[in-house]
Amino acid sequence: MSDPVDVTVDTDDESESVRIHDDDGEVEAGGTTVRFSFSGTGDDDRGADDGDDGPSPDSKEPTDGGDDPRRIADLDSVPTDSTLVFEARDGRRGVNCILHRSGDAVAAWRNSCPHQPEVPLDPGRGAIVRGDRLVCHKHGAQFDREGGVCTHGPCAGDALDSIAVSVRDGDVYLTDERFERAERR
Ligand code: FES
Repeated sequence: MSDPVDVTVDTDDESESVRIHDDDGEVEAGGTTVRFSFSGTGDDDRGADDGDDGPSPDSKEPTDGGDDPRRIADLDSVPTDSTLVFEARDGRRGVNCILHRSGDAVAAWRNSCPHQPEVPLDPGRGAIVRGDRLVCHKHGAQFDREGGVCTHGPCAGDALDSIAVSVRDGDVYLTDERFERAERR
């Protein structure tokens, strides 16, 4: 998803709106939970998912990683004071992820705060990094920037959903077996 969208669920007693930055998540209202999953990109974003991913034009360009669809970026281009957003894809399913560097080590996680999964740590301008912590811009949860564990805040003890990546010859690659390729936004 290139732009956030607003999703509103109305019940007899309640109306709940959330701003969606990710490709999937859930909205709760009146005791009802509605799960959604978007496929497609940009103007082609559609509404709530019924469990079928549906057709996707897969219109995004692959990363600038030459022939290897798992290459995400040059190691040097991965920020130490922020995050780089990419999408891990498996067929038509895409997961919005963030990549962060600490020295020569890299780590990646799903771009989703454990406190409120619809909230991305990186809303598009880079996640906040303070010292050795990533900080959620919404309620200030702090995450260890190596392990992704929340050390302070409303989701203390929870952890970011880790995505496996590795460095080879100065480039960062997606090595998580749940996905087949990486795409940059
Ligand atoms: S949504 Fe991240 S701390 Fe609340």
